[in-house]
Amino acid sequence: MPSELSAYVSDPTPGRGALRPARSWLHSDAPSLSLNGAWRFRLSPTASVAQDFAAEEFDDHGWESIPVPSHWVLEGDGAHGRPIYTNIQFPFPIDPPHVPDENPTGDYRRHFAVPADWSDAERIVLRFDGVESLFRVWVNGVDIGSAAGSRLAHEFDITPAVRPGDNVIAVRVHQWSAASYVEDQDQWWLPGIFRDVTLTARPAGGIEDVWLRTGFHDGRGRVEAEITAEGSAFPVTLRIPELGVEQVWETAADVTPVDAGEVEPWSAERPRLYDATVSTAAESIALRVGFRTVEIRGDRFLVNGRRVVFHGVNRHEAHPVRGRVFDEEHAREDLARMKRFNVNAIRTSHYPPHPRLLDLADELGFWVVLECDLETHGFEKLGWVGNPSDDPAWREAYLDRIRRTVERDKNHPSIVIWSLGNESGTGSNLAAMSAWVHARDAERPVHYEGDYTGEYTDVYSRMYASAAETERIGTAGTDTPLLNCTPAQSARQRAKPFLLCEYAHAMGNGPGALDQYEALVHEHPRLHGGFVWEWRDHGILTTAPDGSAYHAYGGDFGEVVHDGNFVMDGMLLSDDVPTPSLYEYKAVVQPVRFVFDGDKVAVTNLRHSADTSDLRFRWRVEHDGTPVDAGDLEVPVVAAGESGWVSLPPVPVAPEGETWLTIDAVLATAAPWAPQGHVVATVQSDRSPHIPVPAVRHRTGWRPDAGTLTLGAAEFVDGCLVNLAGRAVTGPRLELFRAPTDNDESPSDGVEESDASVPGVSNAELWRRDGLDRLTARRVSVERPHDRTDALRTLDKVSAANSALFVMVESVWSLEAGELELRVEIEPSRGWSTVWPRIGIRFDLPDGGAPVDGAEWFGLGPSESYPDSLRAARTGRFSSGIDDLSVDYARPQETGHRSGLRRLTLTSTGTEVFRLEALPDTHGRRPGFTLSRHTPQELARAGHPYELPASTTSRLTIDAAQHGLGSRSCGPDVWPEFALRPEARTIRLRITAG
Ligand code: GAL
Repeated sequence: MPSELSAYVSDPTPGRGALRPARSWLHSDAPSLSLNGAWRFRLSPTASVAQDFAAEEFDDHGWESIPVPSHWVLEGDGAHGRPIYTNIQFPFPIDPPHVPDENPTGDYRRHFAVPADWSDAERIVLRFDGVESLFRVWVNGVDIGSAAGSRLAHEFDITPAVRPGDNVIAVRVHQWSAASYVEDQDQWWLPGIFRDVTLTARPAGGIEDVWLRTGFHDGRGRVEAEITAEGSAFPVTLRIPELGVEQVWETAADVTPVDAGEVEPWSAERPRLYDATVSTAAESIALRVGFRTVEIRGDRFLVNGRRVVFHGVNRHEAHPVRGRVFDEEHAREDLARMKRFNVNAIRTSHYPPHPRLLDLADELGFWVVLECDLETHGFEKLGWVGNPSDDPAWREAYLDRIRRTVERDKNHPSIVIWSLGNESGTGSNLAAMSAWVHARDAERPVHYEGDYTGEYTDVYSRMYASAAETERIGTAGTDTPLLNCTPAQSARQRAKPFLLCEYAHAMGNGPGALDQYEALVHEHPRLHGGFVWEWRDHGILTTAPDGSAYHAYGGDFGEVVHDGNFVMDGMLLSDDVPTPSLYEYKAVVQPVRFVFDGDKVAVTNLRHSADTSDLRFRWRVEHDGTPVDAGDLEVPVVAAGESGWVSLPPVPVAPEGETWLTIDAVLATAAPWAPQGHVVATVQSDRSPHIPVPAVRHRTGWRPDAGTLTLGAAEFVDGCLVNLAGRAVTGPRLELFRAPTDNDESPSDGVEESDASVPGVSNAELWRRDGLDRLTARRVSVERPHDRTDALRTLDKVSAANSALFVMVESVWSLEAGELELRVEIEPSRGWSTVWPRIGIRFDLPDGGAPVDGAEWFGLGPSESYPDSLRAARTGRFSSGIDDLSVDYARPQETGHRSGLRRLTLTSTGTEVFRLEALPDTHGRRPGFTLSRHTPQELARAGHPYELPASTTSRLTIDAAQHGLGSRSCGPDVWPEFALRPEARTIRLRITAG
């Protein structure tokens, strides 16, 4: 590679020629022209291709066409290289600031016509909103400049190069550059011009930039304007028609704060915006202002004087087809979905999103932590040696990044915190960024998680702290030093508001224990909540070898280094389907809390500032899941932070069954993000009388006896169940294995809460070592009571190859008052040392012409639930087809467990097959069930859904217990209370034919 080129590609400074200072992304009436659309495109494998294409007369007829915005690796069916997914790893040698000669380089060209009436423009400005990663631009063969900072905007003055009528623009984009070292976020590497390209005609006497800083105090709004314009552009007028504000500033020196009078404040809950314009004779800029004041007082983070609790998510720009290309409709629906799931905050991990997203956040209402495009995580492996964050050669690049970040988005009321970046170690360049933000925007606090000791940031932030550690952070005056802190540094951090910038790693099935974190927020006011990692999976829609469509993750495109499915860690699947974790999250953070006391309920409004006047309260009573009464609950308006007691309606109680009272808080009128009647919060109260469980009838006189036997709906041959309700069946067999979740597959870091973990080893590995996935049984005995034909008892010893550990399984089939009962006693030997994934029994139900393909149940539902993820589950009657009982996690794993089962009916094409009643054990514990087309072993073997074998057998597993989910794929293990230790369990079922 020629050295000039090498110097250019590996230059840590941010390029040349882009306009400074950076400006806001403004809605101006100055003429503009979108250059989005079809461009000519040529991809080269290295950066060292001749630059002759920049010349006006270059013939690009042989080139292909590519849409702008787009990522070239997602266009052309693999003809333009493939996406690469890495988390921390650099997909090229760590040789900063150099990158390999193999550096995919995309050349773009197009013609554009400058309208004749642009001739009176003072300047013509070319704007790029996002190009990954380094690009250089020519107009009509004139070298305009270059820039890096993929998710940042760059503008160039191209006035000297353009002319009315036809023009040619040429852009060269390199996938790798020095900038790649500071853009090492956990996501796909997706090169290209992936955001808008726009030309604007800047008028003489126009407004270069405007910043309307707003405040809200004592019911009044205040606007402090910063106008960037030539002196000759004045007078400048600010208008906020709804407030009667019309302020004319004759000169720059006149621009003083404006009292906007009485206003409604802006909050994430009531995102009140006022239309404003800032105009000169030549240009008018439209803004939507929200009045709010952000401040830190002691260890509290306050907006409008009230503490904020972040019920947030980390949001990447990710779309299964478009990658990071913005689609407003999709983004709006995504944000509306967040609102429907009680999400009130967004961290823009780990770069500024498309600028329009912030308009949507202002409008729909979110507290936003706006993060700069910066991550150098790959240097961690080198002990942070050579980390750009502490290298003066990179100082200007860091400052350029934060300036572009803050300047672009400074007008948004939704942005309440600036974040310097993510996982970039620590050092003077980060401190310099912080100093710049403090000087530029004295109001909004600075966040950066990597500043563990609090040298230059205003809030204390951590990721993946366990609930126990989070509690220690929140506790006043505790002596325990904080992570990486001396006692003095700990004291400094404890004097600040705390937030979890990432927690609850939502990879695959999980996380558990969301409720533990939420409880802490209400106990320790220093804790301001956090941001779940993360909102959505980043799967890329592609085609499997068998032709079926699926969502690809790392490794699926043949990457040399990759991080597998670590990119599939959202509460939303790649195709927008909410996972059960999102329902759990919604229930855990619901903004209304209910506490029952006899015939009263206390309704507490946990919101920041909105009262409950937007809500209606509905109640209903169900007997064994069947509605018997319903009505509206008259709840007086409850102010934020307050509670009110309300009398409950008389609840008719079922003498024989269960009685549940449910209260829903619903939207009284439609919101921009949900229809009227949308459920915001729910609670249930168990009003059932005590119902005794039938005692186990003890039989004596058992003696060996095989042969055939019919008991109710069950037929046995030599003690084996062969037929149930007229259908062939095998089992029940002991099932201790579950297809490991991503948390189960994650190695322990040695500081797990569970005393059964082994440092560096995953639970799944321990299970495989113990052979839980390959248990075999030996029948020890088959017996019947002497002289009786109404019972059968079998004893099995279950163990795995090359293991002396075992479990005895005693199964008693009997007729009890004419009903078939199965009681299974599961009794572990001594010596089991791991946690167990589950303690269950599995029935295999072969197709037999018509498969068992549906379930109706009374128990917890409608979604799957696990011991540490039960808050979204409610007691009721539910039904589902077999396929909808499982979640299509990107990597197949444990799914579908419904807890707290009372009654289950299996169906085949709508017809009942058999009914099953689950009796609680002597501790009152009820089993759960899973109905699946696949065994746990089959699920565990598949890397993607398309790898699952075709199935003709339905599998019903009744679990006495399941291990919790935890968050160990990146964070704490299952909390001890929800960890399943080997233990004796009883399963009791009553079975009748359909
Ligand atoms: C964090 C990081 C995120 C993501 C997450 C794990 O350390 O900030 O970007 O990688 O871990 O999914």
